[in-house]
Amino acid sequence: MAAIVLIGAQWGDEGKGKATDLLGEKLQWVVRYQGGNNAGHTVVLPNGETFALHLIPSGILTPGVNNVIGNGVVVDPGVLLTELSGLEDRDVDTTGLMISADAHLLMPYHVAIDKVTERFLGNKKIGTTGRGIGPCYQDKIARVGVRAADVLDEKIFAQKVEAALELKNQILVKIYNRRALEPAQVVDEVLTQAEGFKHRIANTQPLLNEALERGETVLLEGSQGTLLDVDHGTYPYVTSSNPTAGGAAVGSGIGPNKITTVLGILKAYTTRVGSGPFPTELFDEWGEYLAKTGGEVGVTTGRARRCGWFDAVIARYATRINGITDYFLTKLDVLSSLDRVPICVAYEVDGERVDEMPMTQTGFHHAKPVYEYMPGWWEDISQCKTFDDLPKTAQDYVLRLEELSGAHISCIGVGPGRDQTIVRRAII
Ligand code: GDP
Ligand code: IMO
Ligand code: MG
Repeated sequence: MAAIVLIGAQWGDEGKGKATDLLGEKLQWVVRYQGGNNAGHTVVLPNGETFALHLIPSGILTPGVNNVIGNGVVVDPGVLLTELSGLEDRDVDTTGLMISADAHLLMPYHVAIDKVTERFLGNKKIGTTGRGIGPCYQDKIARVGVRAADVLDEKIFAQKVEAALELKNQILVKIYNRRALEPAQVVDEVLTQAEGFKHRIANTQPLLNEALERGETVLLEGSQGTLLDVDHGTYPYVTSSNPTAGGAAVGSGIGPNKITTVLGILKAYTTRVGSGPFPTELFDEWGEYLAKTGGEVGVTTGRARRCGWFDAVIARYATRINGITDYFLTKLDVLSSLDRVPICVAYEVDGERVDEMPMTQTGFHHAKPVYEYMPGWWEDISQCKTFDDLPKTAQDYVLRLEELSGAHISCIGVGPGRDQTIVRRAII
């Protein structure tokens, strides 16, 4: 019996899709447990075909894996149908995809409110993906949300949408000077869409627990990353859910004591999309180098990702917050051809050295990186198959990150492809 949590250790886009795909053949189940189509997970198959997944678990690309959109996810019905048909058009078998009856539905008014709120915030905006994620989670917590199972009872569904829209329309019209949404139209639109996914709605929690009892392996695939977590991230510049490992139990209905491994995905440098503090961010030619060499463009919004050097303070924090047992270090290949590679080992905050995340938001805004430098390497490492194949200086860089992060680096990515991975210790 094994439940494995896979999470981003930084600000998202660490390469979670690739890691899930790599483990694919050893898994029976892949479950998304939070977030929605704010996520963009890239998977490159051995034949070179590239897929960008948003709402559907990355396990969908491995034949025979059961995929679940867990109760902690927010599901935009239109996006779900488009993503499903996009996969089916490319001959991906989607029949095994299930949606938890308790997953919340992301409605058109959530998208409208996300966009107007960001515009209203002006230069204080979060830089959201504009997909309605925050407003949908707000409704969940405010207990006025609509869940997947609600579409199975059209009368109840209509009542819930009408009740939710009563207040939403006041906000849209009176505060933001937008047009009201017509409840009957929203109900019609979503119920029509529901015809395309109703048959996938299931009580997934007992199914997952039974699978674990049978000895099957369940991967709980997180979206976003530790520092985008609404509790443990760089609040308020975060997403509205809990990507951290604790969220995996809540968002899937699996008991925390069933989780045997927590795999953190860690980029060999750092990136961030949207607003918020980022101590190692680079504004010089090295930032451009990382962005260009690493292809750092958002999969969901197409925005340029902000880039910076590796931050060990963040990695240590992620190890602790999530109970990370193993790391998958991605994109080591991007760092080839540097004379020396900086690592941020601590911060200087208002003249004092700190080794941990500062307690206050102001402290984190003031944090300046304290760098240590490792000798670089010039070789192309994209075809390396074992740790010993790596140049000695690249090995030393990995070992130093391992030491600073406090968890074993079990896999190393040397390219986007499934086979461009060095496995030092098997995860499963
Ligand atoms: P996710 O959101 O965490 O799944 O990550 P994204 O898909 O948004 O971004 C990661 C990007 O890095 C994708 O384009 C991947 O194909 C790519 N990638 C993943 N691992 C590696 C690696 O080891 N080396 C290189 N060069 N690219 C990688
Ligand atoms: P994956 O799963 C990177 C960021 C947004 C914004 C903040 C809040 O591909 O790693 P939201 O729309 O969630 O309310 O936006 O979170 N963000 C991500 N950044 N990767 C993601 O997903 C992200 N999902 C949300 O840019 O700063
Ligand atoms: Mg991504």
